[in-house]
Amino acid sequence: MREIVGIDVSREMVARSAQWLAGVPNVTTRESSGVDLADFEDGSFDLVYSYVAIQHMPRPVFHRYLAEAHRVLRDGGWLVFQIYLGLRPEPPLGDTISLGVYEELELVNQLRESEFHIEARQLEHQTGDGLASWLVLAARDDVVAARNSDVGSVQEVSGDLRSPMDGHLYRNLAQNQIAEGRRREAIDTMKQHLEFNAGALAVALELGALLVEEGRVEEAIDVLDTMTRVHPDLAEAYVDLAQFLALVGRSRQGNERDRPAPRGVSRG
Ligand SMILES: C[S@@+](CC[C@H](N)C(=O)[O-])C[C@H]1O[C@@H](n2cnc3c(N)ncnc32)[C@H](O)[C@@H]1O
Repeated sequence: MREIVGIDVSREMVARSAQWLAGVPNVTTRESSGVDLADFEDGSFDLVYSYVAIQHMPRPVFHRYLAEAHRVLRDGGWLVFQIYLGLRPEPPLGDTISLGVYEELELVNQLRESEFHIEARQLEHQTGDGLASWLVLAARDDVVAARNSDVGSVQEVSGDLRSPMDGHLYRNLAQNQIAEGRRREAIDTMKQHLEFNAGALAVALELGALLVEEGRVEEAIDVLDTMTRVHPDLAEAYVDLAQFLALVGRSRQGNERDRPAPRGVSRG
């Protein structure tokens, strides 16, 4: 029979849970330190699950728990947690009553730092003041790398095997920033997205166009030039680049020599 161990920093909560769980043989609860999972061995769990708890934690504690979750999960294990996403000032350190809220990009980056990535997420509910409660399903990066080891060339070339779901968050953020007229921030977000996943073709094209509109033509050319190297087999990439270069009236002859010839597209 599978075993479930629940933890809480509050002795009171643990005592109550023990009453509720009387007669349930495979579930135990215990008081924890509130900052780590020190009671548990490396690789000893299939799933780490947290519900309406992260909002009470100062950020460094949440970060520590992510590292600890990574440690106690076995290969192929899952992390599932509820979290509030939105924009709101950080409560002072030690304030565990006010709602701790994370920005999307911050969460993605934090998970990335902790060697997790988002596989899926589901909106639970929205509050009236622009916050949203999300359920997030995350997996350890090493697991995805193993699972995707036979996936095609784009990911191998890009050297990044994380889930497209993380890209989805970057895209949402960039679109919000564009909609709010924060184009420079959108450009930064898209650049981060490409750093994170150099194979994101649509993002490279969109970023190129945005950079041109902003008059940052040299940067646009660099972005699209990189794109054609990451996608040597994608003829469309060259078509788009050729159209783009025609648009800005530039010749790329200087760089043509070391790029592989695309299929079905002539360079002139
Ligand atoms: C709103 S309750 C939710 C309890 C339970 N997860 C549930 O869904 O019913 C939040 C719980 O998080 C616990 N908590 C807050 N900070 C914690 C921390 N740093 N480590 C462990 N538990 C914590 C609190 O003691 C409280 O019991």
